Amino acid sequence: MEVADAPIRVQSIAQEDRKVVVPPEYIQPPENRPSKLGNGNATDHKIPMIDLGGDKDVNLLCEEIGRACREWGAFHVANHGVPIALLDEIRKAGTSFFEELPMAEKLRYSCDPNSPASEGYGSRMLVASDDAVLDWRDFFDHHTFPLSRRHLSRWPHSPPNYREVIAEYSDQMKVLAEKLLGLISTSLGLSSSFIEEAMGELYQNITISYYPSCPQPELTLGLQSHSDMGFITLLIQDKVAGLQVSKDGEWVTVDPVSHAILVILGDQTEIITNGIYKSSQHRAITNANRARLSVATFHDPAKTMSVSPAFKPPRYRQVIYGDYVSSWYTKGPNGKRNIDALLI
Ligand code: OGA
Ligand code: NI
Repeated sequence: MEVADAPIRVQSIAQEDRKVVVPPEYIQPPENRPSKLGNGNATDHKIPMIDLGGDKDVNLLCEEIGRACREWGAFHVANHGVPIALLDEIRKAGTSFFEELPMAEKLRYSCDPNSPASEGYGSRMLVASDDAVLDWRDFFDHHTFPLSRRHLSRWPHSPPNYREVIAEYSDQMKVLAEKLLGLISTSLGLSSSFIEEAMGELYQNITISYYPSCPQPELTLGLQSHSDMGFITLLIQDKVAGLQVSKDGEWVTVDPVSHAILVILGDQTEIITNGIYKSSQHRAITNANRARLSVATFHDPAKTMSVSPAFKPPRYRQVIYGDYVSSWYTKGPNGKRNIDALLI
């Protein structure tokens, strides 16, 4: 078990001299390993790219979004209104934190290993338990909305513009998330503010994930198969592929597109749409040659909010978001087991 004064970061393991095997706690059982064939190589499957720019008819746009939500639960958006330079800046700031700061310096920002989703530098998604296989990933989690949760002093002080970049990125992602939730609501014939109102006060967290290169990528996962808990996740990645989404029972690799933002529907969107739109099951694989970086921005309701289907008859039980999150972190994601448990 990880103890507060001796946290283990995957990056330290990966950098050990002549490391050729991964420690046993990172080895996935055979059924979860990323095998080479029929796994991420489905060439006839490509995640949809939706252009939000120009003066596209909103009905056509909603149709396109509706189709992507029904068929994939995830899609790229281009011309999203967020400056491309800002996407590059946050990737650069994140890479600089993970790759340029000495480990001792990074560990000063360690998150609380005993409290799930606590802010800071960490490696374990779940609170330490003896049986779970560990992800080949380090991360930095930032609490960004509501503004009362935003404490820039807890974020890295290096590079010098790090905190400013995160704050600006957070603001821009919130605008885009609200626009997308409006389009998603409209695409179902609901008022454009429907999901936003159901969400109440918006909680946003930004997680920068760093996946060190791995000596045995065929045995490990960067991030285990899961769906995101909240309403909508906006994700960008660097040039190194590794994110896979599940489509009709196959793993499809999401090709990195540097100017695009990946929209991932979360479990609360599945509940509120009564399963018309499904949350996307996804995972990250590792590779032997290059480290990989991603930035995921999560948009969730307050823990006290109750979420229920907008359509009848309901196919999911109503849930208090805080209870959902606790159960998720206790049981672990195991694909979509937590949302499936709410099916009526
Ligand atoms: C996540 C996630 C994927 C990635 O943080 O929830 O799915 O590519 N990340 O890092
Ligand atoms: Ni995710």
